[in-house]
Amino acid sequence: MLAALGSAVGLGNVWRFSYVAGENGGGAFLLVYLLMVLLVGVPLLLGEFALGRSTQAESSTAIAKLLPVRWRHLGLLGVLSSVMVLAYYAVIAGWVLKYLALYLFSSTHRLSDPGFATAFEAHIAQPVEPLIWQLMAILLAVAVITRGVEKGIERINLVLMPTLGLLLLGLAIHSVSQPGFMQGIHFLFQPDWRVLTRPEVYLAALGQAFFSIGLAMGVMVAYGSYLPSNQRLPGAALSVALGDALFAILAGLVVFAAVFSFGLDPAQGPGLAFVVLPEVFANMTGGAIVGSAFFLLLAIAAMTSMVSLLEVQTAFAMKKLGWSRQRAALVLGGLAFVLGVPASLGFGVWSEVASTGGRGILDLMDLLAVELMLPLNGLLLALLLGWVWPGKEALQACDLHTGRLGQLWLFLVRYVIPLMLAMVLASSMVSG
Ligand code: PFF
Repeated sequence: MLAALGSAVGLGNVWRFSYVAGENGGGAFLLVYLLMVLLVGVPLLLGEFALGRSTQAESSTAIAKLLPVRWRHLGLLGVLSSVMVLAYYAVIAGWVLKYLALYLFSSTHRLSDPGFATAFEAHIAQPVEPLIWQLMAILLAVAVITRGVEKGIERINLVLMPTLGLLLLGLAIHSVSQPGFMQGIHFLFQPDWRVLTRPEVYLAALGQAFFSIGLAMGVMVAYGSYLPSNQRLPGAALSVALGDALFAILAGLVVFAAVFSFGLDPAQGPGLAFVVLPEVFANMTGGAIVGSAFFLLLAIAAMTSMVSLLEVQTAFAMKKLGWSRQRAALVLGGLAFVLGVPASLGFGVWSEVASTGGRGILDLMDLLAVELMLPLNGLLLALLLGWVWPGKEALQACDLHTGRLGQLWLFLVRYVIPLMLAMVLASSMVSG
């Protein structure tokens, strides 16, 4: 379970949550996001766990076991999404590694002298250096996988999750003393109901819930296959999903208190956390040490997520193509790097290429994965869980049997989730 939580908690909770919440008006977004976590995230996570545990197989095999022959390749969709996500995830992980190096070698004046926003933009606009950090992030994940030490990295979560949680809690408590704290609280927790009439908020909230929990990519099916038979799955799904959301909310508190304390723009986009957090560390005693600790923990959290993503792909290639673990991890890691190169260059030399609506290449890849591929996979997953898997079997595998909760789960995966996902997908298509 800690491994599943370690896979869930990553850049999505700090980097992605803060900028997506910032762009979508804060409070109303948070409300919709939490609704999506409870109504869509928890039931699907429970379904993925149950699928993995009852078939004792990784995702594509588990899905193939349930489906008629001509649908058997549907499991590939999850793997494809994980390829896409890993490619640009590594770019952001590279930024984290760069910041970690700056903090460790105490050259943070390189950030503060030109101004945190300028320094960040200057870093990501370079053609070569970010690529080196990105490559390093991928090589670390490949090394973990080829050495077969995933179990080791999963055990790291035993220390990492509580430590990162405590550090975020400490930072959140520290932010109470900041002048913009109340404004930050209002921004994050006070719903602006008008935002609820904008369909893109639902799309963004749903996508964030999928990304942050790590749903619809087959990862949680794999973790489900490791869960012991006496582990009650509903409790496991609820704690992983809510634990993940808690990390995001804590990070959001820290980020938005600082945004308003330092007069920054909450809707400035993907660089938000990288501009705001260094500002926090620069304005606190012992900031260099806290900053180093923070970026170290975030780097490890990113690594545990990257390892999950690469592991699904590796397992898939080993099984379907008969590749060795080494070969699969190296080739797929290489693929992630190559696909991620345009994402990185899109902030500098290729900034003209995809600047439709002010979005860069990384943003577009993220949009394609999170607002199209994941909801589509989620829809297929819900149909599989609700309609293909015989109800009685599914309920039993979910440890729900036939009580009220079981009926609720069936109702959600059969009707509510497919309907919501279909609506959100339609709005995603309409908005182009
Ligand atoms: N959930 C991770 C995060 O929030 O950073 C990202 C992720 C990891 C997505 C693993 C999917 C996955 F399979």
